Amino acid sequence: MTANSRKILVTSALPYANGPIHLGHMVEYIQTDIWARFQRQRGNDCIYVCADDAHGTPIMLKANQMGLTPEELVSKVSIEHQRDFAGFMVNFDNYHSTHSEENRHYASLIYERLRDAGHIARRTITQAYDPEKEMFLPDRFIKGDCPKCGAKDQYGDSCEACGATYSPTDLKNAYSAISGAKPIEKESEHFFFKLADFEDFLKGWVADHVQQQMIHKLQEWFDAGLQQWDISRDAPYWGFQIPGEEGKYFYVWLDAPIGYMASFRHWCEQNNVNFDDYWAPDSTTELYHFIGKDIAYFHTLFWPAMLKGAGFRTPTGVFCHGFLTVNGQKMSKSRGTFIMAETYLKHLRPEYLRYYFAAKLGSGIDDIDLSLEDFRLRVNADLVNKVVNIASRCAGFISKKFDGQLDSQLAEPELYQQAIALSETVAEAYESREYGRAMREIMHLADKANQYIDTAEPWVLAKQEGKEAEVQACCTMGINLFRVIISYLAPVLPAVAEQAADFLNIEGFAWDAIKEPLLNHRINKFKPLMQRVDPEMIEKVIEDSKQDLLEAQAVVSKAAVKTELEKEPIAETINFDDFAKLDLRVVRIAKAEAVEGADKLLRLTLDLGSETRNVFAGIKSAYAPEQLEGKLTVMVANLAPRKMKFGVSEGMVLAAGPGGKEIWILEPNEGAQPGMRIR
Ligand code: 2FM
Ligand code: ZN
Repeated sequence: MTANSRKILVTSALPYANGPIHLGHMVEYIQTDIWARFQRQRGNDCIYVCADDAHGTPIMLKANQMGLTPEELVSKVSIEHQRDFAGFMVNFDNYHSTHSEENRHYASLIYERLRDAGHIARRTITQAYDPEKEMFLPDRFIKGDCPKCGAKDQYGDSCEACGATYSPTDLKNAYSAISGAKPIEKESEHFFFKLADFEDFLKGWVADHVQQQMIHKLQEWFDAGLQQWDISRDAPYWGFQIPGEEGKYFYVWLDAPIGYMASFRHWCEQNNVNFDDYWAPDSTTELYHFIGKDIAYFHTLFWPAMLKGAGFRTPTGVFCHGFLTVNGQKMSKSRGTFIMAETYLKHLRPEYLRYYFAAKLGSGIDDIDLSLEDFRLRVNADLVNKVVNIASRCAGFISKKFDGQLDSQLAEPELYQQAIALSETVAEAYESREYGRAMREIMHLADKANQYIDTAEPWVLAKQEGKEAEVQACCTMGINLFRVIISYLAPVLPAVAEQAADFLNIEGFAWDAIKEPLLNHRINKFKPLMQRVDPEMIEKVIEDSKQDLLEAQAVVSKAAVKTELEKEPIAETINFDDFAKLDLRVVRIAKAEAVEGADKLLRLTLDLGSETRNVFAGIKSAYAPEQLEGKLTVMVANLAPRKMKFGVSEGMVLAAGPGGKEIWILEPNEGAQPGMRIR
């Protein structure tokens, strides 16, 4: 970094930890990642952080449904999210969770400062309550008959059959979507953030920190009056308890944006950076949030007001983007256009989509369309036929005829000057998130480079006597133009840029490096940088996405058929490969003993024939240790070791039953031997 480089902190919205990443999400992460990579390429100090949005009722219920604790669900999903982001080359400096100590600290601190400054009100409100589950019901967990058309099983806010909107109290025959019980009304005290206290500040702030298209929307919100915001939820709730308030929790949206700070704080600890340099009210660093337009209210009103009220700096900019449509329509599960990141990555290269999104993205909030045929044609025409082609047309001659050596001067210095003169235009387009404009400029340059090679015809010259010098000169020119183009595309195509750097035998693509052309320089052998998009692969993505839907439906229908015995819903289906990963073994319980301080656990020493394992099992209520010793049972032998309070558990034994005395370990026939694999 140079002394005058900018210090920038950038974030993308935190995805909920209860579902997979799909291509709709990827618009934003790709948009932000391109911007962060561009800033770093320019020599700025740009930190990009994100996290999982881990709290709230839906995550609590989903974990419950899957037989997991919320912590277990959140850890599992975090791994999947990070896998998908890495698959799309989204290069976070830190990926954290809102269920973290840093976030608890800042959520409490911000709340306490707001409370002490008089910005929190308390009021008793009446809400729908599930008497069976003993919990308050968010609107989306109340269902019933539409008050207008009578359609059954409609959600608490709108009817999918006739489109009517209403409040949950209007539903006929309302029932809790969680237990099926009829909701009752119940009072409780809630905490409210007094947003209107910040009206003057916000009116001034939005004017130069939010896109013009959003300002109109904000004006409507100001006109409607800034309402107090309910920031508390009653137990049972999955989140942070409000300091000093038993049974009251922060609403998930209160601690979600604070997760940006928490993730950054976590990064600061590891990188020895002073957190306050970025978050103190007088900070000279820049802070940008990339978000979808649907969550603008939280980021352009609540969030800056909370920061202001708690004595932190406010964002430099909040950048909203539109939604993704596929083939001109909302993503649809039945059409196979609701595409998970993982499903796409199974068949197609991430950079195809990074380029296509870049080509379509502007700085506004318009929706963008992924038209799959256009996607294929565009990527093939621009990246394969235009860009990569420049190198493949020139590289062979340089390696074969000149041992990889580039000429000592440029054949067309003016053309090269034109190419590098675009640098600031392209940079300005990236900076202002006008990526579509940047891509058009770059492709126009690629056209010029190809025209130059068409005219120079190195393949004709190569066959003529005494034209060697000309061949070397025009191919040197072509390769230098290729380098400029790849340098401009590097934020969008990081892997292509890396491969191109190997080919060009250069360190990388610092933004200004192209000022010096590559002359008297040895390049490496050219390897194809990108294949065409194969239409069959697009078909596979669609087919697999339809399959994803069928699997999801299978889960729903199995869960719907509950028997008396089977109170727990069937977990999500897994495919055969997932199943095959389980290493289930017959083991002999060599030793069983109580664990001091643990009510439910027994420590088991399991003999697998070839080795012994230490496993903690929650079966103390059903078995005395001496009943177990010598018995055969079944264990999951390849479960990652888990550190527990009492030691490390190296696997899990299988047992069935509702709990208490009614738990039975699985007991294979005596003919089985320890170590045998269950199949
Ligand atoms: O809408 C969402 O998906 C939220 N999980 C976004 C949170 S962004 C930030 F505030 F944490
Ligand atoms: Zn209706």
